[in-house]
Amino acid sequence: AFLIVQTSYMFNQRVKIKQLLSGTDKASAVGSEVVVMGWVRTFRNNQFIALNDGSTNNNLQVVATLGLLDDATLKNITTGASLKVTGEVVASLGKGQKVELKANTIELLGVSDAEKYPLQPKKHSLEFLREIAHLRFRTNTFGSVFRVRHSLAFAVHQFFNEKGFVYLHTPIITSSDAEGAGEMFRVTTLPVDGSAAKNESGEIDFKEDFFGKSTNLTVSGQLEGELGAMAFSEIYTFGPTFRAENSNTARHLAEFWMIEPEVAFNDIEDNMNLAEEFIQYLIRYAMKHNMEDLEFLDARLAEEEKQKPQAERSEMGLIEKLKFVTDNQFERITYTEAIQILLDSPAYKKKKFKYDVSWGIDMQSEHERYLVEKHFKKPVIVTGYPAAIKAFYMRMNDGCEPGKETVAAMDILAPGIGEIVGGSQREERLEKLEARMKDFHIPVEEMSWYLDTRRFGSVPHAGFGLGFERMVQFVSGMTNIRDVIPFARTPKNCEF
Ligand code: 4AD
Ligand code: MG
Repeated sequence: AFLIVQTSYMFNQRVKIKQLLSGTDKASAVGSEVVVMGWVRTFRNNQFIALNDGSTNNNLQVVATLGLLDDATLKNITTGASLKVTGEVVASLGKGQKVELKANTIELLGVSDAEKYPLQPKKHSLEFLREIAHLRFRTNTFGSVFRVRHSLAFAVHQFFNEKGFVYLHTPIITSSDAEGAGEMFRVTTLPVDGSAAKNESGEIDFKEDFFGKSTNLTVSGQLEGELGAMAFSEIYTFGPTFRAENSNTARHLAEFWMIEPEVAFNDIEDNMNLAEEFIQYLIRYAMKHNMEDLEFLDARLAEEEKQKPQAERSEMGLIEKLKFVTDNQFERITYTEAIQILLDSPAYKKKKFKYDVSWGIDMQSEHERYLVEKHFKKPVIVTGYPAAIKAFYMRMNDGCEPGKETVAAMDILAPGIGEIVGGSQREERLEKLEARMKDFHIPVEEMSWYLDTRRFGSVPHAGFGLGFERMVQFVSGMTNIRDVIPFARTPKNCEF
């Protein structure tokens, strides 16, 4: 027998504004009666309501014939108020839209006190909007940014799914420091008032803690990802990562999202190819599915650029830049070549760099930006970094000059962003890996689970991490990373 589900007229039987405005949707073709719901952007002449439901930046013009509304309702149709409108779709005479809605009934769902509502129909600064991040989704800029962010996240899964990768959920709470960088947030249930039990040497006794050991929020899912790759061949992670680095910059967050593919049998070359293909795929996906938002962001960026002195303006518009990146191969150079380019640069000769340049330095963002923005004017993949400045798990390059040891690392540097990807071929040789761990004072015994991958069927493998917010920055053209994540966590700031 069939179960007959009775359908009643639901409150939520509404048509999305994007769908309605497209003019191609049958259910909301000219002449049909529809229900729309959304928030008032503006209300003019007691008659014209610009209604937005977040499906697009384009507002639906709702026309309330004079006399339809009583004075109390009229008074309450203010910016930010929410409405349910039933009406007839009619061809629009106004420019900019094909159709509008001739209201039959307008129901006020929620009022919004015009005196108190912080979002006025005018341009607000990004800094101000950051303080009211709970409301900024209702602006055109953030509407576009977060629809693009959504698309990119979806595209990440689609890309790897199409390639047969397994999405592996690596832990958020861990007892290992994947990067060996030590910039971790501690996770504990021990009291913070000084009453936590101490051991003989006077240190806090983590045996008493929730997990019976010291734990932290993950800085990377890579090491666990490698365990997965040693069985599935190809995995990726996509999750939040946490770094307690005290960097107050436009590219650093304390909580950010990272995508980390890890592939057995790949070498550094394959790794670069995968990363380049992945970035280009994400951009193409956004260009295919979010053109309207990208056009808005392109115009927004062009406005912003106009405020800058000529010399600092970027040569390409946003969409032009995105097309350029999908249509052109990334430049590939070694670290040694990068240093030479910097040493030969007019910027170096004129002492324009704040930080010195020599073989062995960890390149500063001014150096990275010089390479991508001034020298190559395109994304650059740098390989073969000095072993001393890179993580313990990166594969030692063979045949290096003593004192000039390099590893099979790769960073991808993007115009306007700097480092967007960090990755490497991994050290699959047990003895070499153990030696590196000792150099870095990493407790080999505690990491024995990791070393097991090198003991039992070790294979060459490689992977990388793409900073998701930096990718969203690149595609949206937003200059500050705080504006591409809904609620930014940065030093001394954890609102909402
Ligand atoms: O270069 P990172 O530190 O590499 C790793 O974590 C490796 N375990 C990745 C791997 O090989 N599986 O970080 C990778 C990327 C950076 O290139 C950058 O895009 C981003 O993560 N990132 C940050 N994004 C925002 N805020 C921060 N504080 C970031 N730190 C790194
Ligand atoms: Mg890095």
